[in-house]
Amino acid sequence: MVDRSLITVYRSAADLEQSAAEEIVRVMNAAIDDRGVCFVALAGGETPRHCYRHLGMDPLKDQVDWSRVHLFFSDERPVPPNDSQSNFGMVERSLILLIDIPRQNVHRIKGEIDIAVAAEEYERELRIAFGKRPLRFDLVLLGIGEDGHTASIFPGTDVVEEITALVRPVVDPDQNIRRVTLTFPVINGAREILFLASGKRKAPIVQRVLGATKSTKDLPATMVRPVDGRLRWMLDEEAASQIEPTTG
Ligand code: 6PG
Repeated sequence: MVDRSLITVYRSAADLEQSAAEEIVRVMNAAIDDRGVCFVALAGGETPRHCYRHLGMDPLKDQVDWSRVHLFFSDERPVPPNDSQSNFGMVERSLILLIDIPRQNVHRIKGEIDIAVAAEEYERELRIAFGKRPLRFDLVLLGIGEDGHTASIFPGTDVVEEITALVRPVVDPDQNIRRVTLTFPVINGAREILFLASGKRKAPIVQRVLGATKSTKDLPATMVRPVDGRLRWMLDEEAASQIEPTTG
């Protein structure tokens, strides 16, 4: 059962997206103050997209020294960056083109090449970017699918059980899945993990995941368990509408 103090519920999706953007700025600036640099892994999906738009607009865009921020992606689809399905393309349009971030600080997964090669290259790029620092994201932003997937760690795929690689291709012909994703070892190594979920259709899965008494492979989002970081959930009232009231 997730500690209820780590769940914040907002009246509307708009309030959630604005507050999440403000919280991301706070986390980034704390990392920059502490270590002079910030490493963030961004999620794909509609809820995160609306949040990125706020980050790319006044006043938030000017509250961050983007030259000290490295943007990574939690996952990517097997498409080129200019494809409407590309997570990088979505973040580029929503945020990257609106902020003054050095191009070399934006680390995209190459969706246009073979996914196994893209995964290998991305893991190398991750390790090079972190250099001698501990390979720990300051923030991993995650969405959740109605099937309990997060990033591109889908139920029934072998990447659920990955314990060494940091980046993996994900292939499941039955579910028509071909993706590249960060794995639990790197997600759970983060200092801060922020789940964002909004809308009524997410209420059942949010209840199942938050109500789970243990991690389970058929609900990958329950396996997000930071080793020594903080996991928080930011929800709108619709997504939180089926959360059982705390007893006692
Ligand atoms: C992706 C994401 C995925 C997403 C969830 C929620 O590439 O699609 O990484 O994990 O965050 O599916 O997406 P929505 O917010 O659009 O429902």
